[in-house]
Amino acid sequence: MSETYDILVIGGGPGGYNCAIRAGQLGLKVACIEGRKTLGGTCLNVGCIPSKALLHASEMYETAQNDFAGMGIKATVELDLKTMMGAKEQTVDGLTQGIAFLFKKNKVEHINGFGKIVDANTVEIDGKTLKTKNIVIATGSEVATLPGVDIDEKQIVSSTGALELSKVPSKMLVIGAGVIGLELGSVWRRLGAELTVVEYLDHILPGMDGEVQKQATRIFKKQKVKFELGRKVTGVTKSKSGVIVTTEAAAGGKPKEFETDIVLVCIGRRPYTDGLGLETVGVTTDQRGFVETDHFKTNVAGIWAVGDCTHGPMLAHKAEDEGVAVAELIAGKAGHVNYDVIPGVVYTKPEIACVGKTTEQLKEAGIPFKVGKFPFAANSRARANHETDGFVKILAHAETDEILGAHMIGAGVGEMIGEVALAMEFRAASEDIARTCHAHPTCSEAVRQACMDVEKWAMQM
Ligand code: FAD
Ligand code: NAI
Repeated sequence: MSETYDILVIGGGPGGYNCAIRAGQLGLKVACIEGRKTLGGTCLNVGCIPSKALLHASEMYETAQNDFAGMGIKATVELDLKTMMGAKEQTVDGLTQGIAFLFKKNKVEHINGFGKIVDANTVEIDGKTLKTKNIVIATGSEVATLPGVDIDEKQIVSSTGALELSKVPSKMLVIGAGVIGLELGSVWRRLGAELTVVEYLDHILPGMDGEVQKQATRIFKKQKVKFELGRKVTGVTKSKSGVIVTTEAAAGGKPKEFETDIVLVCIGRRPYTDGLGLETVGVTTDQRGFVETDHFKTNVAGIWAVGDCTHGPMLAHKAEDEGVAVAELIAGKAGHVNYDVIPGVVYTKPEIACVGKTTEQLKEAGIPFKVGKFPFAANSRARANHETDGFVKILAHAETDEILGAHMIGAGVGEMIGEVALAMEFRAASEDIARTCHAHPTCSEAVRQACMDVEKWAMQM
C-alpha cells in the first residue's frame, strides 16, 4: 500500500494547480490529478491564455491597418493566420510546461489520468487507488449548450473551436453578448469577419455597471459590430453554403433568420463534475450542478471544492485564490478569499474592467453613495496615444467615503483596476487615491481624477 497523501487535488487548472503548489510550499504531501495531457486547465489550454494571445495579435493587426498612417508610419500589412496561430500555441506550450516545472520545484506529484472519488479518503485513477486525508475538487467547467444546437467545432463552434479556425470567416454570428462573445468575436472581426451578435437580454455584458454597458455598446457599434439584442436563437441548421440561424424576439414573435459561415455558441459555462463519483460519496450539488460549499468545505468531511465547479464568478484568479486558501486551511493557517474585491476584465479594445459593486447593485441595496467620473478624452497620456474612448467611474460610500466599486472602460484599464482593488482591500476612501501622487503622464491619472471628482474637485476637466 502506498503512502497516504495530505491532499489529492483533482483538476490541474488555476484552482487545482495553485492549491497544489501552495500545499507543496507548506510541506504537505500533495499530488495533482489531471485528465488532460498538459497542466493549466481551461485557462492555459483553451481559455484565458490562447484568447489573449489572439486578442493581442489581432489588435496589433488592426492597429497597423487603421492607425499607423495617422501617426506617420507607412506599412504594408498582411495577415499570416498560420503563424499567428503558431505563436499562440507556443505561448500556451511554454506556460503549461511552466506549471510542470513549478510542480517539480514545489514537490507536487503530477498524476496524468481521470480521477474518481471512491470515498472521502480514496481516489481511483485508471484502476489504481490512492489514499488521502483530503480531496480538493477543482474540476472546472465546460461550455453550456443550447438545446438542438450541435457544436461540431468546425462551423458551429464553442470558444475552443473559435480559438482554432483555420481561415478567417466572411461572416461570424455569436450567440451571447457576454465576455467570450465580445472577446473572440473581436478577434475574428479584426481579422476581417463581419460580426453579428445575438443576445437574449436587451443589453450586452450582463452584471456590469449600466453606464459601462451603454458606452461599450456605442464603441463596439462604431467598430461595425451588429447587435441583435432582445432576441433568442430558436434553431441552427447547416446549409450548403454555411449555417442558418433562426431567431425570434425574446418576448416571442418577430422571427428573423441569419445566414453565416461560423456560429460561436457562448451562452455561459456549466460546472464539470461528470464521472467524478459525487453521488457515490454524497457530495451535494445545487440544481445547476455547482458543488455546494461552506468556506470551501463540501458537506462531506475532508472533501473541498474550488474554482468554476463551485459558486461565484467563473474567473481564473477567483479559482486561484480559493485553491491557495484551501491549501492554507488544510495546513492549519487562516486561508481566506475576499469575494467583495474580485476584479473582472474584458480584454476587448478598449478594455473594460470592474471591481466591487455596480451603481445598480448599490441602488438596489439602498446603500447611499457618491459618484466620481473622469473621461479618458481629458487624460493627456490617452490623448498622446490616440486612445481617448472611455472613462473611469468610482463609487464611494456617501458618509464614510470608502470605495465600494470601480468601473472603467478604456485602453489599459485591465491593468489600472489593480490599483483600486488594492485600495479596496485596505478599505481605502476615495480621498486616499485622490491624494496619492500618480506619475504624469499616465492613464492611471484618470483613476486619481475620478476619485477627486467624488468630492467634485477633479482639476483636469
Ligand atoms: P479549469 O481551468 O477548467 O480546470 C479544471 C481541470 O480539471 C481541467 O483541466 C480538466 O481537464 C480537469 N478535470 C476535470 N475533471 C477531472 C477528473 N475527474 N480527473 C482529472 N482531471 C479532471 N478567466 C479569467 O479570469 N480571465 C480570462 O481572461 C479568461 N478567459 C477565458 C477565455 C475563455 C475562452 C474561457 C473558456 C474561459 C476564460 N476564463 C477566463 C475563465 C477561466 O478559464 C476559468 O475561470 C478557470 O480556468 C477556472 O479554473 P478551474 O481550476 O476552476 O477549472
Ligand atoms: P457570459 O455569462 O459572460 O455571457 C453569456 C451571454 O449569453 C449572456 O449575455 C446571456 O444573456 C446570453 N445568453 C444566454 N442564453 C442565450 C440565448 N439562448 N440566446 C442568446 N443569448 C443568450 O458567458 P460566456 O461569454 O460564455 O463566458 C463564460 C464564462 O467564462 C464567464 O462566466 C466568464 O467569467 C468566463 N470568461 C472570462 C473572461 C475574462 O475574464 N476576460 C473571458 C472569457 C470567459
